[in-house]
Amino acid sequence: MQARLTIDKDFTLGKIDERIYGSFIEHLGRAVYTGIFEPGHDTADEQGFRRDIMDLIRRLNIPIIRYPGGNFVSGYRWTDGIGPRESRPKRLDYAWASLEPNQFGIDEFADWCKKAGTTAMVAVNLGTGTPQQAADMVEYCNFAGGTYWSDLRIQNGHKDPHNFRVWCLGNEMDGPWQTGAKTADEYGRAANEAAKMMKWVDPTIELVACGSSGMDLPTYPEWDRKVLQHTYDNVDFISMHRYYGYNGSVEDYLASYADLDAFLAAGIAAADYVKAYKRSKKVMKISLDEWNAWYGTHGPKPEEAWTVAPPIHEQTYNVMDALCVGGLLTTILNRSDRVRMGCIAQLVNCLAILMTEPGKGAYAQTTYYPFLHASLYGRGEALRAMLKAPKMETRHGAVDSVASAVTFDEEKGELTVFALNLADEAAQLTVNARSFENLSPIEHIVLDGELFACNTFDTPEAVLPRSVATAACEKGVATVTLPARSWNVLRYTI
Ligand code: AHR
Repeated sequence: MQARLTIDKDFTLGKIDERIYGSFIEHLGRAVYTGIFEPGHDTADEQGFRRDIMDLIRRLNIPIIRYPGGNFVSGYRWTDGIGPRESRPKRLDYAWASLEPNQFGIDEFADWCKKAGTTAMVAVNLGTGTPQQAADMVEYCNFAGGTYWSDLRIQNGHKDPHNFRVWCLGNEMDGPWQTGAKTADEYGRAANEAAKMMKWVDPTIELVACGSSGMDLPTYPEWDRKVLQHTYDNVDFISMHRYYGYNGSVEDYLASYADLDAFLAAGIAAADYVKAYKRSKKVMKISLDEWNAWYGTHGPKPEEAWTVAPPIHEQTYNVMDALCVGGLLTTILNRSDRVRMGCIAQLVNCLAILMTEPGKGAYAQTTYYPFLHASLYGRGEALRAMLKAPKMETRHGAVDSVASAVTFDEEKGELTVFALNLADEAAQLTVNARSFENLSPIEHIVLDGELFACNTFDTPEAVLPRSVATAACEKGVATVTLPARSWNVLRYTI
């Protein structure tokens, strides 16, 4: 199979916001307890943060992590998680039928973020919570001192404000599964009032309104339009969530990248409609703050309901899932002019790229690797390259059998081509980047193999990316072999 990718350095989508390489830690299953926080673990530091998982996270260079939910946040009283640990209440977490001990809260998360070399995207409760409680939380976290909430933070051992920049106005409020779910008008009104009050407390924050939590609900895509009619002037992002599952067809699954593109296009169109309606000059940004592969996992086992940190959504990802994730990353990059924030959901143990065992070790799932590659090498500018590849029939329509994205990091003098070959045969990809003088290959990374192969605690390195021989590059043109069903990273120096 032949494919062709034509790249010109002048055809740029603009600078990538590094926050597209965000992730997500929810109070869900073992994400927090025995995930990132396990006092008594061999590698735990003085605050109980596991150093083994932190090391793996640091390697990813994740700029932002969403917390504390997710569905969890819609019934969460943030004040339960502050102050002396022994007096924090245990609560029923309706979202995940679990017991929340509140031994890890917003102050611990702030400290953890500093140690992990990342920043927080904090979600407030707009399910059972009020705009006042949301504004109080901003005051607690971001106000310097001299007020009730800021002084309480200082009393709790944090003299300096946390200065969290990004705040989500609730989570998936369109979903009937959500604690305190709302209609678009109910949510839009509440979110707008919360946004006003939160920005009065700290005008420097950026706010994310809840958009559609997928395409399946009957409210999609009217939800986005209605919510933005209420909130447009006071928010900076509209969120979008999308997960993909394997249903027996490899082609359909790997073509998820095309479906994500259509989903984002619709979200952007809804936002631009409201922009026109309001005669606004402001361009609404998209926060794709939950995306991933997710299928075949369930809530807690009945006998583990209402316990602390029961295993939930502990999906073992295989090679095919990693390919799907790679494809989704190409879409995010190709839409990075509007997608300015994104979170792979999630980071540890639940639908996660990293797994831990209580009292034992940690390992990286197959999906860790495409995310690592994009986060490390997909910085700088995204280029609008022209791809010509044979089409493939899938349930998402006729899609290109190669998915690709191109980034140019001028500072480092590096050009990177990310390419997913969906087809069951190798592809000869001609990369034509003649506008770059003196292009020479650094490396060609491939992730492929038996589609159902996984990493596990016993075989943590069963699936690893490999470096293959680079193809010669002459006057900016190279013909590269993309193995059948493979994720490829072609790195060039200029
Ligand atoms: O990431 C798991 C869950 O998926 C989140 O809690 C929720 O927002 C979404 O439905």
